[in-house]
Parts: sequence; structure tokens; C-alpha cells
Amino acid sequence: MDNKRKTALVTGASSGIGRKTAIKLAENGFQVIGAARRMDRLVELSDQFKGIIPKKVDLSIPEDTERFCQEIKGLSESVSVLINNAGYSIRGTLEDVSIEAARRIFEVNFFSLISVTRACLLGMRRLREGTIVNLSSIVGKFTFPMGGVYAATKYAVEGISDALRMELRPLGIRVITIRPGVIATEFNEVATEMTGDLMPMTDPDYKPIYEAVGTGVGKMFTGLTIPDPDLIANIILEVVLSESPKSTYAAGPFTDEILSKRFLLDDDAFDRFWTEKIGITEMKIE
Ligand SMILES: NC(=O)c1ccc[n+]([C@@H]2O[C@H](COP(=O)([O-])OP(=O)(O)OC[C@H]3O[C@@H](n4cnc5c(N)ncnc54)[C@H](OP(=O)(O)O)[C@@H]3O)[C@@H](O)[C@H]2O)c1
Repeated sequence: MDNKRKTALVTGASSGIGRKTAIKLAENGFQVIGAARRMDRLVELSDQFKGIIPKKVDLSIPEDTERFCQEIKGLSESVSVLINNAGYSIRGTLEDVSIEAARRIFEVNFFSLISVTRACLLGMRRLREGTIVNLSSIVGKFTFPMGGVYAATKYAVEGISDALRMELRPLGIRVITIRPGVIATEFNEVATEMTGDLMPMTDPDYKPIYEAVGTGVGKMFTGLTIPDPDLIANIILEVVLSESPKSTYAAGPFTDEILSKRFLLDDDAFDRFWTEKIGITEMKIE
């Protein structure tokens, strides 16, 4: 792909995977629009790396997403590479996550992805060229207790990406889904901040489940080396520059041990495998 003077849009460019991706695209000759809420971070990024244009948007507010999309549609140079990366996680059982929190996370992780993609598609269709990279997760294909709402947003990203891939291939537009495992970014910190401490407010029925899952998942992290976001940013760059990228990529811890099992086992066998791994197969609360 000849990337000279091409415009890329990276959502969530103020941190983690998005930040690293914006830098790598700019270093490879793209003009990069880096979007997020924290403008100070974006300005610092654009001061440090030539070719990054900071744009402020709060993707949890539909009106602000709409304003941002109008701005994108009005650009003289169409966006030909879109990295739908902005996102976050919350934790909690279904009864512990408020409906407002569930709506908000869907707004950021899913609905804004649809709006921003639509804003870029007119230009891509006109050019009969474009690359859309959607950040899913390993939990775009399986989930765990207390992870249902976040995983649901990523299942939704997977669904829309699969359909888009087929809709847009005839028009020369590629759609690629990335499934990171655990990556060392601000992701975990943000999830804790967005969730708060659930233990004091959860019903006693759920306490042993939180504890068991905490212990089970904790064990899986023992001795684990968590890769930095370069791992995923390098894959995204490779995808963008490739003549024939694959439809999906997965990288990081738990992709081999768990995600690949999800594809090998039927639903019941995976359920057994996974609940055994997190130590709740035999759990019964009286
Ligand atoms: N790290 C992991 O273990 C992991 C694993 C699987 C998938 N992922 C996915 O990878 C993507 C990037 O996450 P990360 O790990 O790089 O996390 P991160 O370091 O927390 O970065 C998240 C980015 O999303 C932006 N964002 C969040 N809420 C936003 C909002 N309301 N409006 C605009 N931008 C918003 C943040 O910018 P502002 O706060 O400045 O707005 C930030 O730039 C996410 O989609 C995440 O679900 C991460």
C-alpha cells in the first residue's frame, strides 16, 4: 500500500495501543488524526511526532461523536485507514452493573465505532479503497463471570466486523478484526476506576463467586509477562501495509491457551474447560 500522504484516523490515540499505533503510522508516512478526550496527551503526541493531528472527542456522548463525524466527513483528504481502537472495560455481575454503565460502555465500544466508520465510508467508497481495523479482544469470542457486559460489546464488534467485511470487500475496502490478549496499558486501571469496589455493595450471594473468580483468574496471571502495546501496534501496522491481510489476528497472553480452545471445543466442552480453569465448575452456594 502506498501510504504517502494518506490519512489515517486512530480513535483512542491518547494511550496504550492507540498511541503506539498512531506513532507507527506517522513514522510510516501517514498523516494521522489522533482522537480521544485527553487533548493534553494528544497535543504532546503531535509535538513529539510529525504528522499527528490531535482531535478531541468524547465518544460516550452521541452528540459529540456526531460533531466529530461531521468534522471527519468535511476533511479535504478522505480517511483511508481507520483504526477503531477507543474502548474500555467494566467488571461486575449482571446485577451489579447498572443499566446506565452498560449503555455507556456500548456507546463507546460499539455505537461510536459504527458512527465513526460510517463517517469514513463515503470517502473510502469513492476511492474504492480503504482499511478498517476494529479492536475486539480475546473476550470477543468467550467471556467469564463478571466480564459479561464488556465482552458483549466486543461480541458486537465481532458481529459488525464480520458483516462489514463481506459488505465492503466488493468495494475494495478491507475490514480486519484484532483480538488482543492481556496487554500492559492503562486498560486495567481504567476498568478499576470505572467499576469501583463492588465487594461492599454486592449481594452476599455473589461474594463467593467474586472471590473464587478473583483467585482463579489471579492464578492465571502468576508469573505471566504482560506484553507492551507495541505487540498489537506492530500487527496493526503490518495489516495496514499488507497487500493481503488476514481477516482476524490474535496476540498476547491467553490467545493460545484459551481463545484457540474456544475454536476447537463445542460450547459445553468449552464451558467445562473454562470453568475448571477459573475454579468454579463444582461451586454450589447454599
Ligand atoms: N489492554 C488490554 O489488555 C486489551 C485487551 C483486549 C482488547 N483491548 C482493547 O484495545 C483497545 C485499546 O485499549 P488500551 O489497552 O490501549 O487501553 P487504554 O490505554 O486505556 O486506552 C484506551 C483509549 O480509549 C480512549 N477512550 C476511552 N473512552 C473514550 C471516550 N469516551 N471517548 C474517546 N476516547 C475514549 C482513551 O482516551 P481518553 O481517555 O483520552 O479519552 C484511550 O486513548 C480497546 O478497545 C480495548 O478494549 C485491550
